[in-house]
Amino acid sequence: MLEMKHLTVETVDINKKILNDFSLTIKEGEIHAIMGPNGTGKSTLSKVLFRSPQYRVLEGTIALDKQDLLSLSTEEVARCGLFLVMQDPPVIEGVTTSDFMREALYEKNKERVNLYTFMKEIGTASQKLSLKEELVHQSINQGLSGGERKKNEIFQLLLLKPNYIVLDELDSGLDVDSLKQVCEVLNEYKKENPHVSFLMITHYSRILEYIHPDFVHKMVDGKIVETGDLSLAKKIEAEGYQVNEHTKELFHE
Ligand SMILES: Nc1ncnc2c1ncn2[C@@H]1O[C@H](COP(=O)(O)OP(=O)(O)O)[C@@H](O)[C@H]1O
Ligand SMILES: [Mg+2]
Repeated sequence: MLEMKHLTVETVDINKKILNDFSLTIKEGEIHAIMGPNGTGKSTLSKVLFRSPQYRVLEGTIALDKQDLLSLSTEEVARCGLFLVMQDPPVIEGVTTSDFMREALYEKNKERVNLYTFMKEIGTASQKLSLKEELVHQSINQGLSGGERKKNEIFQLLLLKPNYIVLDELDSGLDVDSLKQVCEVLNEYKKENPHVSFLMITHYSRILEYIHPDFVHKMVDGKIVETGDLSLAKKIEAEGYQVNEHTKELFHE
């Protein structure tokens, strides 16, 4: 279970408050979607979860399976089974995706994976994603298109087998067919591993047609202002992100 409570977060550089009393609990196996306009703090939330040094947590707690996540380092968070598919995956020159994965698997399992098994897994994962296998033998994301970078992230996910998956705008960069394909791969992963939880961050509801969320949250100005099911996503699509008077009343503003 991932439990975020009353998080208030500012940037370290200019002390800009971004998350503002943000709370959300994700139980084992649940799929949550957060929808919010640009600049509302969605990516900040994902980076806070992964202990980015760019952000300072002023108030609140994050418990991951009863552990205090805020006392962990990024590596420890990853070791606990969290995986972030970044909105804009960076290029890392000089390290190939396959070498990176071999080291990451060693760090995770404290055991060298058999090279033959590893190569077979690479083949299966890249085939599932229609990701040209040669791409994983070059520097991470170098020369890759936005969509290929997203596929490269999911490729890593398939090898590392995380328990908590945060998808920050998976849909950005992927064309319609690739998005559908990647979502099918994720649905298959979820089917094989029902205990896995998802946090999908998006501002379009299209991805939610492929991966069905149990809960949809509307996030405005650094906090959740409304929670519902898929019908809330449809409502947001139709009406936009305005916070209406009724919602304000509910949240005592
Ligand atoms: N490290 C940072 N330094 C300064 N401003 C930041 C930083 N990170 C985010 N911001 C600002 O905070 C707001 C929220 O950013 P972000 O979490 O990326 O929004 P979203 O993902 O919802 O579009 C934006 O206005 C962004 O420019
Ligand atoms: Mg973002």
